[in-house]
Amino acid sequence: MTVFRSHGGPPFPTMARIIAPSLGQDWTASDGLPPSECSIEGEHSLARNANCASPSEKRAGASIDQASVMEHHIDPQRVLTSSHRGHIKPQLRLSALLDSFGAGLGSVVVACALVGCTSSGGTLVATTKQPTRSMPEPVLALPVEPATQEPFADVNPFADAALFVNPDYTAQVDDSIAQAPELAAPMQVVREQPTALWLDRIEAVAGVPARLQEAKQQSSAAGKPVVPVFVVYDLPNRDCAAKASNGELKIEEQGESRYRTEYIDVIAQHFAQDPEQRIVAIIEPDSLPNLISNLGVEKCALSQDVYMHSVAYAIATLSMPNVALYVDAAHSGWLGWEANQRRMVKLVKDVLQMAGGNDRIRGFATNVSNYNALAGDWGKQLESSNPASNELAYVDMLRGTLSEMGLGDKQIVVDTSRNGQAEIRSRWGNWCNIRGAGLGPRPTVAPREGVDAYLWIKPPGESDGIADPSAARYDENCGSSDATPGAPEAGQWFHSYFVELVRNANPAL
Ligand code: BGC
Repeated sequence: MTVFRSHGGPPFPTMARIIAPSLGQDWTASDGLPPSECSIEGEHSLARNANCASPSEKRAGASIDQASVMEHHIDPQRVLTSSHRGHIKPQLRLSALLDSFGAGLGSVVVACALVGCTSSGGTLVATTKQPTRSMPEPVLALPVEPATQEPFADVNPFADAALFVNPDYTAQVDDSIAQAPELAAPMQVVREQPTALWLDRIEAVAGVPARLQEAKQQSSAAGKPVVPVFVVYDLPNRDCAAKASNGELKIEEQGESRYRTEYIDVIAQHFAQDPEQRIVAIIEPDSLPNLISNLGVEKCALSQDVYMHSVAYAIATLSMPNVALYVDAAHSGWLGWEANQRRMVKLVKDVLQMAGGNDRIRGFATNVSNYNALAGDWGKQLESSNPASNELAYVDMLRGTLSEMGLGDKQIVVDTSRNGQAEIRSRWGNWCNIRGAGLGPRPTVAPREGVDAYLWIKPPGESDGIADPSAARYDENCGSSDATPGAPEAGQWFHSYFVELVRNANPAL
């Protein structure tokens, strides 16, 4: 039986309504959200925003009940998948509802227990209602002290600077050059490109001082500041909606306090060593977006408070005069819908309030490790209801939503490492080692209004996830028909895939 779980994707329509008999009430607004924000509109998850709850639900402290009866008009043709960085699972898609309500055509009234909906040949079938099962309550999180130190000035940290070229990345490309000498010329170009440094485990933090030292050397050679971009990526219960990048820290094993003391605090000490060294940090890819769309996944529901507090802690601690922070804001295929963006911005505001204010971050990172091309209308073909039909359309919309909701003129960095080719996926939600992908625009400073830089955040050639179904971190997305077979573990060098990225580079190398 296919259990429909939702992982991003289009919002539910205005008229859709979740009826939770166990609670006996509709969702209502709380915490300042207008009712429309808390209706199921814009909620493309089977879970709902943490700030939306019926009074009884609030009292009970419950998350949405996955087995609650859903009464919807469902167009059976429109059972979709969805995306995040984007981890994808089948999900109910109800946007056809509006059309159905409007046109009165093709709609089917289905009452189905969410855990009891099966897919048969792409058709949604309601099965016997399953026993009610609640999502677990979020684990309570540690408090966060708001930052009091000076933040980074609100300027583009990449201006008048060069980007750090990671010698480890260069060495990986050199391996590929040795294996594919016929591609030596284009690969030589790639080996010189700046890529981000992923702090994906506590052990990796020990390498930060050496990296900063190298940045200094590159800076003397270049005669201008050289900015390293670090990715802060070790959240407790990391990658809660997928498996490929599950991390080392577990909430049930003191992961939250270890994240603070053994990871963030240590990074902060290194960053503070040389106040003259400009540094950029991308904060926790996929973390807050998972709380927008994936609270129907048990691990995400459990982790929501810890995610919020940990991200707030990371921001409060790493925000300093020489460190510019960008918080991950998923991508067009995940938060392209306006209602999703509004929820994201609301969540970010709460996190920033805990961290010490909106000026703690310079802006947001989008498309991290994803494949969305900057321009074109390809998104419309993948998902016609998504108003953001390419990544720059999303960037513009997001900036608009941010300023409209009081977060000011925030700036964006976009990961362009593998977005050279559009129209390569059968589903927008597929995210793992996509076949046919090519290197995208080379890292560029201030390429357009509102964008501080195009960066190669995902080092192209490193795998998104293992393709071996027997591996502990095997995620079915890495076995999809869009994924490249034979992939090693996430983060490992994948030579044959790198060859493909180089061959398909756009602009060509
Ligand atoms: C992996 C990390 C890796 C990063 C960059 C992520 O998907 O989980 O371990 O460092 O990609 O390749």
